[in-house]
Amino acid sequence: MASRKALDQCLVLPILLMNCFVLLGQCARPLNTEGGEDLVTATCKHTLHFELCISTLRSVPASKTSDLKVLAEIALNLSTTYAADTLSYVHELQSNSSAANYGSNNIIYASRCLSDCAEEYSEAIENLKDSKEALADGDCDQVDTLVSAAMSDAETCEDGFKDMQSGDSDSTSPLTERNRYFSELCSNALAITKLLV
Ligand SMILES: *[C@@H]1O[C@H](CO)[C@@H](O)[C@H](O)[C@H]1NC(C)=O
Ligand SMILES: *[C@@H]1O[C@H](CO)[C@@H](O)[C@H](O)[C@H]1NC(C)=O
Repeated sequence: MASRKALDQCLVLPILLMNCFVLLGQCARPLNTEGGEDLVTATCKHTLHFELCISTLRSVPASKTSDLKVLAEIALNLSTTYAADTLSYVHELQSNSSAANYGSNNIIYASRCLSDCAEEYSEAIENLKDSKEALADGDCDQVDTLVSAAMSDAETCEDGFKDMQSGDSDSTSPLTERNRYFSELCSNALAITKLLV
């Protein structure tokens, strides 16, 4: 009897462990909505930027859904919209930029940084548009790749200004806050996509 119980335990543990590994290996985790908790809250708990996730998703009426895929699409839409808004902002900075803003030594370099950023954000918008198609096709890996690429576009934009700083200038990036916010939106979109099977 005792040895039978020991045998059962020996069998049960490996099976439990195997289940864990199977779950970890997929691009999905089980999403439990606890009593009264809505899908937005349950979903945002899996993101790195919880408050941002809640406030941005809730700003879109369609987030009152019970479909996780719709939330993923909304998250990608939010990133896309912010990237487009940032691209307009860069264009505004470009038309405003003058020696008074950057110092006469840096004006040429600063305007080159802004041109680079405009290019990076145009690419980010394309990547995010493609990621929505990948999501519609259920290609989770491709969404991951494209959204990661969009994040690194913003990083490249920011790094351009860092390189300028390391020269003999004291200009800082006028886009630091936007680059950071955009990365957080993308990071959340990635985390939400990962919850999809
Ligand atoms: C995402 O954006 C597209 C294009 O603007 C729009 O047609 C679609 O309804 C949006 N999706 C959601 C879930 O809001
Ligand atoms: C551009 O200049 C206008 C007019 O001076 C100003 O209102 C606006 O805030 C500036 N935009 C940026 C992004 O600096």
